[in-house]
Amino acid sequence: MILFSTRTMQYIAKNINTNHGSCIVKNFSDGELYVHINNEIKGKDVWLLASTQPPAENMLELFFMLDALNRAGASKINLIISYFAYARQLHAMQGESSSAQVICNILKNFPISKLFIFLPHDGTELHNFLPYTDILDIEFFCEKAVLYDAIAAPDKGAHIFAQKIADFCNKEIVFLSKKRPEQEEVEILSLEGSVNNKKVLLIDDIISTGRTMIEAAEFLKKNGAKTISAAAIHGVFSPGSHERLEKSIIEKIYVTNTIFQEAHKKIVVSDIGPLISKIINNHINKEEIL
Ligand code: R5P
Repeated sequence: MILFSTRTMQYIAKNINTNHGSCIVKNFSDGELYVHINNEIKGKDVWLLASTQPPAENMLELFFMLDALNRAGASKINLIISYFAYARQLHAMQGESSSAQVICNILKNFPISKLFIFLPHDGTELHNFLPYTDILDIEFFCEKAVLYDAIAAPDKGAHIFAQKIADFCNKEIVFLSKKRPEQEEVEILSLEGSVNNKKVLLIDDIISTGRTMIEAAEFLKKNGAKTISAAAIHGVFSPGSHERLEKSIIEKIYVTNTIFQEAHKKIVVSDIGPLISKIINNHINKEEIL
């Protein structure tokens, strides 16, 4: 097998101990992308690692890499997407684009043997549009959860997976609900469960503006929580979020590097590289047994 990666995942790929493929990805002066696979891969199994944040150029790079690998004759293409951008735009209102469905439809045109995605937003629904295997990095959450008395899901979207993690780590769970009065604004509406005098860990899939975590933390504090920290798989950290989170009452913020990340003041980063190696090795070993 040969491992390739988009430019956004080279920091993970370089630490994976395997046969690495080489490719050229560059821009022409007009901005168009050019992709060329340098290896002879005809009849070979390949793995591709991709992260699609920021989405515009990186999504195209992913599509062009898939096309180039296919045209170069790879016998099997397995794809791991660490961050699936656009997943938050799956449900479209009248007049809007369902951007997530557009991306799913494009991906379905490629002969992908196996697709793994790290906890995509709206995962249960996304399965209706794209066949993939969900990677919920339980170890990442549980390693942090042991340090806290209770886990909190900041909104309805996080209820199912936060519950899964709470069950797995044997922790108490509380549920919050939120609304968005405006795009990227957050208001927490209710709390189910008790946080009085507890150290609470908020769990979500994504931190983008940081407002969901910040408003949820304020709400928990008002309801008696002793301390509040936050954990999310994907640290999107849109502009202004680092400063906002820094000023907030949240003590520690744990994220993984599904998107390139460096530790930043209260932000602690966990590496997904070992989990990716494990997924690839397990898959290869399983195929060998069959
Ligand atoms: C969406 O509802 C997600 O699960 C997250 O809660 C959301 O994307 C976080 O965004 P932000 O940090 O901008 O509040």
